[in-house]
Amino acid sequence: MKNLTIIDHPLIKRDLTVLRDRRTNNHLFRTTLRRIASVMAFEVTSDLSLRSRPVRTPLETTRGYVLADDIVIVPVLRAGLGLVEGFLDFLPEARVGHVGLYRNEQTLEPVDYYSKFPRSLGRSLVLLLDPMLATGGSGSAAITFLKNKGARRIRFVTLLAAPAGVRKVTSVHPDVRVFSCVLDRRLNARGYILPGLGDAGDRIFGTD
Ligand code: PRP
Ligand code: URA
Repeated sequence: MKNLTIIDHPLIKRDLTVLRDRRTNNHLFRTTLRRIASVMAFEVTSDLSLRSRPVRTPLETTRGYVLADDIVIVPVLRAGLGLVEGFLDFLPEARVGHVGLYRNEQTLEPVDYYSKFPRSLGRSLVLLLDPMLATGGSGSAAITFLKNKGARRIRFVTLLAAPAGVRKVTSVHPDVRVFSCVLDRRLNARGYILPGLGDAGDRIFGTD
């Protein structure tokens, strides 16, 4: 699918199996999600530009590098929070914004309830994090939200995507690249991803 990159890595396949397993408790779910997020961060940033800067070792001066882009990480509350620490492990210089959305389980439409972003989003590369891309309603609403706040370069990073969700986000926002660890089969009648992993927020926070 256009604008979709599948992050294909053996460590991700192993950890995704743990996350899918219904027997995985909240603690193991959180620690596994954090670890998988680090691998995702590594892959999603593999083409970032660098700016060179000289660095003095104890012996001499040589060429060193910093990231050319200012990075802003934006988790979609609640479930996106489960990915933040793993991303910050690899991107400690990143600033973090938040967007709060939940899906009305009757209409499946996103409802927004909170947002707070760092300054100058327009000059930053924004990594929008949400482990689940189901109908795509929440993802495309979050991207619209970010664009209205000035964001110009956005990557949407998810763990598990359904084809309908990818189609929605990439058709409403053709300028946004979507990264997912897997493209699952389809949605069920209640808008849950099959085979999926259930309700990500509930499994992270133990609210099921
Ligand atoms: C989940 C998930 C996404 C959304 C995906 O959040 O984290 O934000 O559903 O579904 P969609 O693609 O059909 O919009 P949820 O609404 O369950 O809120 P929560 O994170 O607070 O549990
Ligand atoms: N939100 C979830 O947490 N899981 C799904 O399967 C769909 C939406």
